[in-house]
Amino acid sequence: MNTPNVWITGASSGIGAALVREYANRGAQVFLTGRKPEALDKVRVESGFPQRCHSVPADVTDSRALGRAIEHIEQTFGAIDVAVLNAGTYEQSGVDDFSSAAMRKLFEINVFAVAETIELLLPGWRKRRSGSFVIVGSVAGDFGLPYAATYSAGKAALRRLSESLYPELKRDGISLHLVSPGFVDTPLTAKNDFPMPFMVSTERAAYEICRGVDKNKFEIRFPVRMSIAMRVLAALPYPLQFSLAKRMLK
Ligand SMILES: NC(=O)c1ccc[n+]([C@@H]2O[C@H](COP(=O)([O-])OP(=O)(O)OC[C@H]3O[C@@H](n4cnc5c(N)ncnc54)[C@H](OP(=O)(O)O)[C@@H]3O)[C@@H](O)[C@H]2O)c1
Repeated sequence: MNTPNVWITGASSGIGAALVREYANRGAQVFLTGRKPEALDKVRVESGFPQRCHSVPADVTDSRALGRAIEHIEQTFGAIDVAVLNAGTYEQSGVDDFSSAAMRKLFEINVFAVAETIELLLPGWRKRRSGSFVIVGSVAGDFGLPYAATYSAGKAALRRLSESLYPELKRDGISLHLVSPGFVDTPLTAKNDFPMPFMVSTERAAYEICRGVDKNKFEIRFPVRMSIAMRVLAALPYPLQFSLAKRMLK
């Protein structure tokens, strides 16, 4: 791949914006999607490589807008080589504030928009036998975290979706990488009022993601200590898991 075309959703802040800088710095043509054109333009200009970055505003929950964004990129610049499906949201959802409507809204962004993008890109990628999906999940998908019922459920759905699609995609020449970050210092975590152990910067997150893609890893997990802690928690028998989860209650 000479100059790859990298499309990043959720590029206006946090991990997505850091990925824009990382990929642009590596010489890629980078396409930035989010709902706010001004915020995308700011990231584009501040990337240091504005000539290689292109704003393609869209709401990922609007399937027609998604389709138009893909069409615009591919007709103007050629096929998308890497799609980083990173747009996401988080709302606290414990027993007190549990709402199926809020869960549906979160799933529209965190789960169904990912599925829709895969569906839109697949026909072209299968024909070309190339393309790379980078799906941003979370270690929160390892285990149902207290006060994060809908978020954990959405990220667990992305994990199963990724595991399930991976072998067939590989057979068809398409790669898929599941990114499972621990806490990253972004606007999404800024609203949390609980301790966030082993938190990393967005630059570190972007570096880890690109390194994992380069190594062709299926799952890209970081930081190591948070990743291990969540793996161990998820592997414990339920009585032990729930006694640890009880300690996380306010
Ligand atoms: N921060 C963490 O600790 C952490 C840990 C694990 C996983 N993650 C995951 O990492 C991803 C990025 O999160 P972040 O922490 O970087 O949060 P962030 O700074 O809040 O970024 C979220 C991005 O998603 C975009 N977005 C949200 N809804 C959208 C929609 N309907 N259409 C288009 N874009 C939309 C936002 O752009 P606009 O609002 O401008 O549209 C923004 O660019 C998410 O999937 C999150 O679940 C984060």
